[in-house]
Amino acid sequence: MNRKLLPLIVGLCVGFVFGVGVTIAFVCCFWSRNRLRRSSEKSGNIPVRVKVVDSGASLSSSNVGLESSVSSDWGNMPLSLEGLQRKDVGSACGIPKYSYKYMQKVTSNFTTIIGRGAFGSVYKAQMLTGETVAVKVLGNNSKHGEKQFLTEVLLLGRLHHKHLVDLVGYTAERGQHMLLYAYMSNGNVASHLYDLGGNQEPLNWDARFQIALDVASGLEYLHYGASPPVVHRDIKSSNILLDQFMRAKVTDFGLSRPEMIKRRSSHVQGTFGYLDPEYMSTKTFTKKSDVYSFGVLLFELITGRNPQQGLMEYVKLAAMEAESKVGWEEIVDSQLNGKYDVHRLNDMAALALKCVNEASRDRPSMRDIVGSLSQLYEKKHFENHNIKSPSPVNEISIELG
Ligand SMILES: Nc1ncnc2c1ncn2[C@@H]1O[C@H](COP(=O)(O)OP(=O)(O)O)[C@@H](O)[C@H]1O
Ligand SMILES: [Mg+2]
Repeated sequence: MNRKLLPLIVGLCVGFVFGVGVTIAFVCCFWSRNRLRRSSEKSGNIPVRVKVVDSGASLSSSNVGLESSVSSDWGNMPLSLEGLQRKDVGSACGIPKYSYKYMQKVTSNFTTIIGRGAFGSVYKAQMLTGETVAVKVLGNNSKHGEKQFLTEVLLLGRLHHKHLVDLVGYTAERGQHMLLYAYMSNGNVASHLYDLGGNQEPLNWDARFQIALDVASGLEYLHYGASPPVVHRDIKSSNILLDQFMRAKVTDFGLSRPEMIKRRSSHVQGTFGYLDPEYMSTKTFTKKSDVYSFGVLLFELITGRNPQQGLMEYVKLAAMEAESKVGWEEIVDSQLNGKYDVHRLNDMAALALKCVNEASRDRPSMRDIVGSLSQLYEKKHFENHNIKSPSPVNEISIELG
């Protein structure tokens, strides 16, 4: 062999061996990273936020100290639901778990009922920390309710906003499922509008406007702040709660789902009177389905009429009149005794009408709605001469994004 070629051949061999080595190392590294990622996905590690824990509560130690973040895991919710043990789901989200015995004690054996819904009864409880909470107890043998229980824990464990109700704990043992929420001392909006409690003060105009803004801001967060976006699917006055300052929070996330493009549900769910007609015909829900229900809620606040008792027919008639004449004053809740801001009423009703448009593409987004309501607030109509009679109380405050 030519002696001059020898170094070249040796060099080529060394280069080849080195190249193969580097490639093998790279492939091994890539494979082990993928394995690690797959195994952590399998174990269902969800980033959590840890809240104040009562002495009766337990938290799974593996979650303590992790930071809250809204990641996209919830996009796989139906899969996660099947994969997760009901009794562990809350700890997976960092929510304190309470024993049934403890709950018996703090509710004085479930004596004070403060509400009732499709899920079951809601009781008042005094925790050993002194905190007052509302305890939603899932009725026995409710398969449907069990899914809603999981949905609420998975969702509220991860999404936090001042206009969404706070989930502060849960119980899951011996077939007993309960959800614990921060207590909202002024109950739900429906009871104020329809005086269901028998001794409610009618809501004044400013309080109604503030409720609309608060709910819009909570929904805007669900639609644009959550990843993936979440559709509530059951916006109605009995699912809006009021705190001691009459500020509103959205509750009842049992039907909520991540929004997915062209996702068809097998059957229509929600509440009669608030259901988006497009969702009913296509069985596909979108953010605009919430916008429709929000529009109904706005009309409910304006008129004090129940959507299940012909509110929308009444509104459609008034809309025809409003086109040709002055405005929406004819449909205003008589309980307001004429104390409202005419301009804001007309602007709010015009916005509500856009929200209940039959075609979802012609409805505004929750972002647009928050923008419009904020502008209405900024106009401060109630300070100018158009106010029919000055509204006594509650200064309105506005919080965006
Ligand atoms: N955190 C709370 N504070 C005060 N009352 C509440 C609270 N949560 C629920 N309620 C009352 O219980 C009712 C039913 O609660 P909800 O969460 O809507 O249950 P469901 O899923 O059964 O409809 C509400 O309309 C309200 O009157
Ligand atoms: Mg409800």
